Amino acid sequence: MSGPIMGEDAPIKTPRHVAIIMDGNGRWAAARGMPRGFGHRKGVEAVRDAVKSARAFGVEYLTLYAFSSENWRRPQEEVSDLMGLLKLFIRKDLAELHSADVRIRIIGAREGLKNDILGLLEEAEETTRNNGGLVLVIAFNYGARDEIVRGMQKIARRVAKGEIAPEAITEAILSENIDTCDIPDPELIIRTSGESRLSNFLLWQAAYSEFVFIDDLWPDFDRNLFQAALEEYSRRERRFGGVESVDIAVGSNS
Ligand code: FPP
Repeated sequence: MSGPIMGEDAPIKTPRHVAIIMDGNGRWAAARGMPRGFGHRKGVEAVRDAVKSARAFGVEYLTLYAFSSENWRRPQEEVSDLMGLLKLFIRKDLAELHSADVRIRIIGAREGLKNDILGLLEEAEETTRNNGGLVLVIAFNYGARDEIVRGMQKIARRVAKGEIAPEAITEAILSENIDTCDIPDPELIIRTSGESRLSNFLLWQAAYSEFVFIDDLWPDFDRNLFQAALEEYSRRERRFGGVESVDIAVGSNS
């Protein structure tokens, strides 16, 4: 795995965890007079590229917002298109990701998912469980408020059984009971397509994240744009509410 990459002037401080809101597939397709599904298919190619870049840059965790709990409201045809692409991605790319030592993790609600998709997601996690390279976190049927509510329900069940006192609930306990329990918080969140909002993504984990919003649409996201986002991140000072700049490695889950 590579060390720090060199920007034009200074070495880049590589964040351990980069999370990406992949936005703009529909607009990319519309600009070419094509149906939205065409943009999503190009989006999958950008996903493959982003995984390769993350590995080359030495990023340890890459989280991709693939399908939100709100995306079910899209037209039925588009929902099936997106499901089909995710299934195809796992079927076609799992062996290659596995041989590249990538570990796949899925975050998001699993209840109510169809058996075929659930089976593939579990197979991807199971097959790559012992890999030690890049951790590719796919946010699927994911909504941050839903994640926090599910976490609170788990904790409330323990409170009801008398295993934990309400006053003993801490930030660490909530962190341990949500989908990202053993994943460090992202130091950097990137969103493509010129929109500047979080859209219910990693609300708890993003407390101290740096945000880089870029105008390019997701299908155009390539290694150069990824590198430019890392360079922008390197220029930011992270103080965690204190006065002095803190080394990036300290920030994760603290
Ligand atoms: C946003 O573009 C993108 C999505 C809702 C889905 C992202 C999914 C993929 C790139 C493909 C499957 C993912 C994996 C991990 C294989 P949009 O449709 O909201 O675009 P718009 O805002 O221009 O309409």
